[in-house]
Amino acid sequence: MNIKDLIAQRAQQALQALGFPADTNPAVAPSAKANFGQYQINGVMGLAKKQGQNPRALAEQLLPLLALDDLAAKVEIAGPGFINIFLKPEWLAEQLQGCDESRLGVSQFSQQRVVVDYSGPNLAKEMHVGHLRSTIIGDAAARVAEFAGDTVLRQNHVGDWGTQFGMLIAHLEDQLAQGVNLQDVALSDLEDFYRQAKKRFDDEANFADRARAYVVALQHGDAHCAKLWQQFIDCSLSHAEDVYQRLQVGLRPEHIRAESAYNDRLPGVVAQLKEQGLAVENEGATLVFIDELADKEGNPSPFIVQKTGGGFLYATTDLAACGYRSHELAADRIIYFTDDRQGLHFKQVEIVARKAGLLRPNTQFEHCPFGAMLGEDGKPFKTRTGGTVKLTDLLDEAVNRAAQVVAEKNPELGAEEMAEVARKVGIGAVKFADLSKNRSSAYLFSWDSMLSFEGATAPYLQYAYSRIQSILRRAEQPVFGPLQLAEVQEQELALKLLRLEEVLVQVHKDSQPNLLCNYLYELASLFMSFYEACPVLKAGVSPELQASRLWLCRQTGRTLALGLDLLGIEVMERM
Ligand code: ARG
Repeated sequence: MNIKDLIAQRAQQALQALGFPADTNPAVAPSAKANFGQYQINGVMGLAKKQGQNPRALAEQLLPLLALDDLAAKVEIAGPGFINIFLKPEWLAEQLQGCDESRLGVSQFSQQRVVVDYSGPNLAKEMHVGHLRSTIIGDAAARVAEFAGDTVLRQNHVGDWGTQFGMLIAHLEDQLAQGVNLQDVALSDLEDFYRQAKKRFDDEANFADRARAYVVALQHGDAHCAKLWQQFIDCSLSHAEDVYQRLQVGLRPEHIRAESAYNDRLPGVVAQLKEQGLAVENEGATLVFIDELADKEGNPSPFIVQKTGGGFLYATTDLAACGYRSHELAADRIIYFTDDRQGLHFKQVEIVARKAGLLRPNTQFEHCPFGAMLGEDGKPFKTRTGGTVKLTDLLDEAVNRAAQVVAEKNPELGAEEMAEVARKVGIGAVKFADLSKNRSSAYLFSWDSMLSFEGATAPYLQYAYSRIQSILRRAEQPVFGPLQLAEVQEQELALKLLRLEEVLVQVHKDSQPNLLCNYLYELASLFMSFYEACPVLKAGVSPELQASRLWLCRQTGRTLALGLDLLGIEVMERM
C-alpha cells in the first residue's frame, strides 16, 4: 500500500484527461502541516510554468477531474496551486485492515539483481571500529533490498592480499616452528600478532628480507607460502565471522569473494585496458589518465592499474570485480559501502570500468560513502591509551553497559532472560545509533545517549515494542478489529502505519537506513500519544472500541518488529 503513489496515479490520469502526455509524473508529498491535509499534490505548479499557464488556473481545471472521492473527504487548492488532500478515516481503516500479516501491506516494489558490497575488512588485522559502519549499514541495505523483492548478492570483498602478508606468514612460520598451536594464543589476538610481526620487520633485517621474499613467492604460487597464508587467512576470517554472528549480520562464508579471488584476472584486465587505448605505460607503471576527473589546472586524474615492477593494486582488483559482478553475476545494481575517503577511488573505478566495458551500461554503480565514527570529544574513536578499538571489545562493553541499564529498569527479570535482553539491547543500541545518523556525516559515539530510554534509540523502540506485547498479554480474550478511527491520535497512528512502504521505497532508493530509523521513532512516539489519549484496557471502554484499539496496538507492534528486523535489530516480549 503506497498512498503517495496512488494519489500520483490519480493525478496523472487527470492530467492526461487535460491533454498532458501519459508519462507526466506530478510530485506528491506528505503535507507539512495538518491543516494542509495529509498529502499534497505539489507538482502542478512546475507543469503549469513549463506550459506558460497560470498554476492556480491549472489546479482549478484539474480538481474536478481528480477522482479521489473514495479516499478523500476534502480536496482543496491552496496558495499558488498546491492541491491539499484530506483523507477519510474510514478509508484509512479499510486500507489498514486490508494489509496482510507478513508484509504488512508492503508490495514487492523492486525486482533487480543487486550486489551489495559491504564489510570487506582487511584480514591482516582484527576487525576494528572502522569496519562497523560498513558492516551495519550495508547489512541493513541488503535486508531492505531483499524485502523489497530484489535478488541480493552479498559480496564481502575482504582484503587478503598485499605486502603485509609477507611479514605475517614469515612470523607465523617462526611461531609454528616454536611449537605454537595455531588455534592458541598466537592468533587469538590478531592485533598483537600483527604488532609483533611489524616490530620484527622494522628491527630485524633478516626477517624483513624473508618477508619480502615471501610476498614474491606467494604471488608466484609457492606452495609453502600459500599454505601459511591460507592458515593465517582462515584464522583471521574466523575472527570476522564471530563478529558477524554477534552483530547478527547476514554475511556468511559463501559471501566472501576476497581480493585474491581476482588474481588470475588482473593481467587480463591491464592488457585489455592497454589494447583499448585506455591505459598507457608511464615510467614503468601502467595507468589510465582520467580527463573527467581533471583538477583545476586541467591535469587528468591518474589511476594506476599496475605498479613499476609489475604489482597489481586495489584499483585493478576493483576493476576485475566490476567485470565479474556486472557480467557474470548479471547485476542490475552494485552498491558499495565504504568510508568517504574512498570517494575518488570509486569514481575512478566507475569511469574506467564503463569505458572498458567491464560494467554493462545497464548496471548501476553506486558508492554509498559514510563519515567517520568519532569519540565524544569529536576526535577519532580510540581506546583510552590511544589504540584502535577492537570490535569485539566494543560489543562486550555494549552488552555490559546494557545489562546495567536493563537491571535498573526492570530488576525482576531472571538472570537468563536478563542476559538475553542485555545482549539484544546492547547490540541493538550500537547498531541503531549508527544507522539513525545521516550516513554521509561523521557522528559522535556516545554510550549514554545510545543506551537512553528516551529519544531515538534502540532501547526506546524495543521498550515500546515490549510494552505493546504486555498490553496484548493483559487483554483477556482479546478481539482484534474492526477498526474505527474516531480520535485524531488513532487517525495519525493509522496513517503512519500505512506509510511503511513509502519509507521503504525511499530507503531502498537512496540506501539511507536513517529514514527507516526516523519512521520507527515517529511511529513509537505516535503510539505513546495514542496510548495516553485512548484507553485500551480500562473499564468502561466498549468492547468494539477495545477491539479496534487492540488492533492498532498489535499492528504497531508488528510494524516495529518488522522495521527493526530490517535494520538487523531484535525485539523481546519483556524488558
Ligand atoms: N578492504 C577495504 C577497506 O578496508 C574495503 C573493501 C570495499 N570494497 C571494494 N570493492 N573495494 O577499506
